[in-house]
Amino acid sequence: MPMRRQPRYVVITGSDTGVGKTVLTAWLTRRLRAEGVNAVALKPICSGGRADARALHRANGRTLDLDEVNPWHFPAALAPVLAAQQAGRRIQLNQVMTWMHTVSRAHELVLVEGAGGLLSPLGEGFDTRELVRELNAIPVVVVPNRLGAVNQARLVIEALPDRARSKAQVVFAAVRGAGPAARWNPELLQAHFPKLPHTLLPWVTGGEKLEAEETPRISTALAGLVQTLRE
Ligand SMILES: Nc1ncnc2c1ncn2[C@@H]1O[C@H](COP(=O)(O)OP(=O)(O)OP(=O)(O)O)[C@@H](O)[C@H]1O
Ligand SMILES: [Mg+2]
Repeated sequence: MPMRRQPRYVVITGSDTGVGKTVLTAWLTRRLRAEGVNAVALKPICSGGRADARALHRANGRTLDLDEVNPWHFPAALAPVLAAQQAGRRIQLNQVMTWMHTVSRAHELVLVEGAGGLLSPLGEGFDTRELVRELNAIPVVVVPNRLGAVNQARLVIEALPDRARSKAQVVFAAVRGAGPAARWNPELLQAHFPKLPHTLLPWVTGGEKLEAEETPRISTALAGLVQTLRE
């Protein structure tokens, strides 16, 4: 019997919570699927509601059940490790990996959204960095594009597992009222990591719906990143 190819993994992480990881993951997933890639997005652990998991479930075209997209979810709006403990649960990395490999089996490309930033505590003794390492994943680092972004991006990139750093992608997410720094951040970061590719995620307002199948501005902005993830 021919060996089934292992899925490729992309871990969407960032400098903080609320930086646009879900929006980006949903967009990438929709785009990749529209291009015929057998891609699926997962959110292993949610705390403080399951909105992210629901958004990714929709982006997947509901090919997986919500509980397959997100098996661990806890009501407390705390770091997942604490939210789980408050619910009397302890999440172990090996459990997450076993689930991840099972649910990923039939897919070519698996996009995994962490929770919070790269080093936010996810479970017992692990965070999103361990997911990147264990999955040998491409890390996509989302950073709000404003004054301070270069520091935040450097901190996250320095904290990536060594093997993952050379595969990393940075996404500078537009923020309202960002000021003049936004224009220079990509160039400033490049001075530190000359080979690190970056993408600018535009801010979407008004009639442009974040979940619309096609928002030409975002499709254009993400085209290069989508191409890289397909390769
Ligand atoms: N490019 C964008 N244009 C408009 N709104 C955006 C954009 N990116 C993110 N948002 C909004 O900002 C908020 C935070 O985005 P998002 O939920 O994607 O962040 P996150 O990093 O996934 O957060 P969490 O840490 O909770 O998972 C959401 O209300 C989202 O709709
Ligand atoms: Mg999110």
